[in-house]
Amino acid sequence: MSSARTADLWWKNAIVYCLDAETFYDSDGDGTGDLVGLTEKIDHLAGLGVTCLWLMPFFPTPGRDDGYDITDYYGVDERLGSLGDFVALVRTAKDRGMRVIIDLVINHTSDQHPWFKSARRSPNSRFRDYYVWQDEPQDDPDTGVVFPDAEDSIWSYDDQAEQYYLHHFYSHQPDLNIGNPVVREEMAKIAGFWLELGVDGFRVDAVPYLLETGGIDGDLRLDPHSYLKDLRAFMARRRGDAALLGEVNLPNDELVAYFGDEQADEIQMLFAFPLMQQIYLAFARQDARPLAEALRDLPAVSDASQWAMFLRNHDELTLDKLSDDEREEVFAAFGPDEDMQLFGRGLRRRLPPMLDGDQRRLRLAYSLMFSLPGTPVLFYGEEIGMGENLDIDGRLSVRTPMQWSDDKNGGFSDVAPSRLRRPVTEGRFGPLAVNVADQERDPDSLLNWMQRLIRKRRETPEFGWGAWDVLDAGDDAVLAHRCAWEGGTVLALHNLADAPREITLRIPQIDDGHLVDLLETRSTTHRLDGGRVDLKLEGFGHRWLRLRGSV
Ligand code: GLC
Repeated sequence: MSSARTADLWWKNAIVYCLDAETFYDSDGDGTGDLVGLTEKIDHLAGLGVTCLWLMPFFPTPGRDDGYDITDYYGVDERLGSLGDFVALVRTAKDRGMRVIIDLVINHTSDQHPWFKSARRSPNSRFRDYYVWQDEPQDDPDTGVVFPDAEDSIWSYDDQAEQYYLHHFYSHQPDLNIGNPVVREEMAKIAGFWLELGVDGFRVDAVPYLLETGGIDGDLRLDPHSYLKDLRAFMARRRGDAALLGEVNLPNDELVAYFGDEQADEIQMLFAFPLMQQIYLAFARQDARPLAEALRDLPAVSDASQWAMFLRNHDELTLDKLSDDEREEVFAAFGPDEDMQLFGRGLRRRLPPMLDGDQRRLRLAYSLMFSLPGTPVLFYGEEIGMGENLDIDGRLSVRTPMQWSDDKNGGFSDVAPSRLRRPVTEGRFGPLAVNVADQERDPDSLLNWMQRLIRKRRETPEFGWGAWDVLDAGDDAVLAHRCAWEGGTVLALHNLADAPREITLRIPQIDDGHLVDLLETRSTTHRLDGGRVDLKLEGFGHRWLRLRGSV
């Protein structure tokens, strides 16, 4: 593999950072973050070592699903700025060595989108077939509603249209009809538009739903995966290295299909949802076995495909793939109050409060995320250890303003706190205790630790590119995995238990040589003896080690 190829397939070894301009930095003092503010703060991301910015929806919206309800795919919501501001942001990000991907929300529009308004008015509207209508729909028992707190069916009756329309999400988000070639053309036009403005790809929202037709597949006559192949081919024609990052929360065997077939011709990067859920089970039990098994089960990917590794995102921490008992264990450990739980399947908390602010455990968690075989994806504020605000409704509890300093509103905005678009977090994880400015000054802060970790991660491409296996650490609390690529081998060790561990690690196929610590301040080496090595781990400790030849 030549180095040039590693640049072509940039998503294999990227550091992705997700944020919403609305909650990042308010440059004009109106209480809402904006694109100009984000551009002003871009050096924070560059300094951290981020290589790809994922921008959550910034399009015109009535804001009933935090921007995932769009009324115009070709614009910028005026609260956040203008198209000009967007281009200035992209240009600045590129100057700092960062790529930019944006959300592509094409499963549904807002019911306020002019297409839907026209469609519901008349069966003769040219937009009628942009959506999926039925006179008497049968609820497909396999497809439940995504938000059971708000909806009880994926079909809603529209008085104006005098028909039912399909919506997997809220009833104010009618599903687009992907079976209609005109809609597919429109979607390509949307992707093409933003590629032309300089984006490097898209995080594709709600992919399986996009291809779900509410039990009327027969009518739509579309092979779901053929659509993704078309979209990908279109992107490749417009921009060879544009990448898709897919939100597909399915079991592994169904999930891999979204990479495409042997040619890896669909989505390049998929979130490792099943693995992520096992991480929380392993954390809750302080036992590495669920995680080791999940890592063994993680399907290998081709050179052009990649797993996206994450611990938290902007939604609830979904635990839907765990058994009921397992989910209860995680709830008991990390979100025992009903108010912390959502939809009966997830937690609306950020990681630091779940781990009771324990820095050892937090660093263990991020060391793991950054060393798992894939591309790490951070959610804004994770680098400083922000918490959630449970006073805010539903999933929005984790989308509070970024905490820049201990000034008013955490330095996010100058406005009177009552006029903030969303309140800041208070208390132990609020800006007085957790903010960028303080942590920049403190060499031992989470921020500076993570910056060093990211630097090391970028220097260790084996984690992103390599073949992986789980090693025998002889201790149920310890996960040991190896990633090997192009003659380089790295090991990562994670002790999920509170108590220190002394382990004997067995490394198959390697007899001698020595291991060098990558994260310690002193460079220590450990000699291998017939493929074995004795190592110590602190309670909740972690180590990254590189294999070198014999000394
Ligand atoms: C995805 C997004 C979520 C949004 C939903 C509907 O699941 O992650 O935030 O509400 O799609 O667009």
